[in-house]
Amino acid sequence: MRAIAVSEYGATPALTYLPRPEPGPGEILVKLVAAGLNPHDWKIADGMLKDTADAAFPLVVGCDGAGVVEDAGPGVTRLRHGEQVYGVFTDVARGRGSYAEYAIVREDGPVARMPAETIYTHAAAVPTACATALDVVERAGLGEGRTVLIAGATGGVGQAAVQLAARTGATVIATARADAAGTIRRLGAAHTVDHSAGALNDQVLAVHSAGIDALIVTAGDTARTTELARLLRPGGTCVSTVWTADPDAMADHGLHGVNHADAPTADALERVAHLVDAGELRVHIERETTLEAAPDALARNRAGGARGKTVLRIL
Ligand SMILES: NC(=O)c1ccc[n+]([C@@H]2O[C@H](COP(=O)([O-])OP(=O)(O)OC[C@H]3O[C@@H](n4cnc5c(N)ncnc54)[C@H](OP(=O)(O)O)[C@@H]3O)[C@@H](O)[C@H]2O)c1
Repeated sequence: MRAIAVSEYGATPALTYLPRPEPGPGEILVKLVAAGLNPHDWKIADGMLKDTADAAFPLVVGCDGAGVVEDAGPGVTRLRHGEQVYGVFTDVARGRGSYAEYAIVREDGPVARMPAETIYTHAAAVPTACATALDVVERAGLGEGRTVLIAGATGGVGQAAVQLAARTGATVIATARADAAGTIRRLGAAHTVDHSAGALNDQVLAVHSAGIDALIVTAGDTARTTELARLLRPGGTCVSTVWTADPDAMADHGLHGVNHADAPTADALERVAHLVDAGELRVHIERETTLEAAPDALARNRAGGARGKTVLRIL
């Protein structure tokens, strides 16, 4: 099968021909129609997990995908041949990922039936970004009368978080450069602040002088998160997907700091599918390209400036 893989950590991802994987007990084989790109993909290929998991090489790049159940190992009961599924297909220890014609996932792992009204290229863009956004918005404790700042709002996770946060009734302040501010407001942000245009805290206080109850961070470094956390009122919560929260230091200031690490679950994917079907969560596909163009697409994402999701067509 065609796959995009790295021969070692840090190698340039390249088109590779690999044997089709065989599903073991409890596993399903999915014929992927599309894969979704996440920053995680190039981070894992770079070696982000090298201290925590032994990888098998060639290591197929990518996590998110959507396709059709092609085969199942012994003991599989939840999903059947021919079902349209989407999920997270990565197993570094076995060299497996989603930038490939076929991928394996445990039936009790992060896989669910696709949102009913979507096409494969759309569904493939959803899993990691939307399930992560669902988690971080819940962990931020939002609701009517509360105010949240979302730093990194223009990316895949951020755009989903803006919509889900606004659905809770919270007032959403979101970062966006000028070119993206209108889009982010249409997704539900009450205000946007421009992280490329001067002191962010001053911009937030200018639109909301009382400070914020929650801070969701999907971009920037620890120093920036620490600075933004000064906007939090006592008892406020900071949730970071980029591990920039310092929970101990925040606790010293009466704040709750969380670094989010949880992988998407089947339950989260099912909930996300319902939200997508109900039209309550929209995913903007910024770029659709081919599997073969994945190395360029990864380089582009690494350079920054994402304004939505990138999807790779596999079939
Ligand atoms: N821990 C977890 O479980 C988990 C799960 C999912 C994602 N993540 C991580 O979360 C991060 C975001 O993921 P994603 O899929 O949303 O990425 P993405 O789609 O590539 O988007 C990143 C966005 O951040 C913006 N940005 C960059 N620097 C910024 C800054 N200093 N302030 C405000 N915005 C900034 C970028 O726009 P500009 O370049 O124009 O500023 C871009 O729109 C990634 O690092 C990813 O690895 C972690």
